[in-house]
Amino acid sequence: MSDRIRRLASFVRPHSVLYDLCCDHGYIGLTAWDQKPLAGLVFVDQSPNALRAVHEALKARALTDDPRVQVINGPAEKIKLDARPSDLVMAGVGIRTIVTIIRALFSEGLGPHRLIICPEKNSLELRSFLLTQTLGLVAEDVVMEAERFREIIVLEEKGGPIHLLGEGYANRQDPHVQNFVVSLRAWYAAVTKNREARPAP
Ligand SMILES: C[S@@+](CC[C@H](N)C(=O)[O-])C[C@H]1O[C@@H](n2cnc3c(N)ncnc32)[C@H](O)[C@@H]1O
Repeated sequence: MSDRIRRLASFVRPHSVLYDLCCDHGYIGLTAWDQKPLAGLVFVDQSPNALRAVHEALKARALTDDPRVQVINGPAEKIKLDARPSDLVMAGVGIRTIVTIIRALFSEGLGPHRLIICPEKNSLELRSFLLTQTLGLVAEDVVMEAERFREIIVLEEKGGPIHLLGEGYANRQDPHVQNFVVSLRAWYAAVTKNREARPAP
């Protein structure tokens, strides 16, 4: 199991209902289930092929008929959310997908729920969107997976300020994190310079 998956699962609150959105193999949900007591576990993926592995894993754990566990084949933006405090993991998908899902599920705010997000790419665009929502930062981190940096952003309705450049992890002494911060800032500086150099339309 990768550090990313273990770290994502570590941010799930005990006794919440966990939605592993865009779950594919379902490793994040299964890891959280093994780590702590959960009120429920819902796997969601639009691909029936992806969900085959989830069904196999549930069978191996004798969880197929467990009423606390559900598997939904369909778009995450269409699910009906449990009223109990729920934690929604969105990992390994693009920023547009994450924004679409948040808009569709939380048009009236996040309520008692928690979002645990790990986008595929650098998160500046996503953070700009998050700043327009009634959301606060609970935690953020950066982990390595297959030689790539992965950011993790944890949000609730009430939390601290969301920063555009991941200030929450910027002071960590871990050399991987420091390398990431340096490369991220250089990348953003280059993007900003290119934008400024472009003639106005
Ligand atoms: C790369 S996998 C991510 C797997 C896992 N979440 C992880 O981080 O390791 C992306 C999965 O997202 C699913 N997916 C993409 N957009 C989706 C959507 N709008 N609703 C449900 N599933 C979606 C795809 O079918 C695919 O299985």
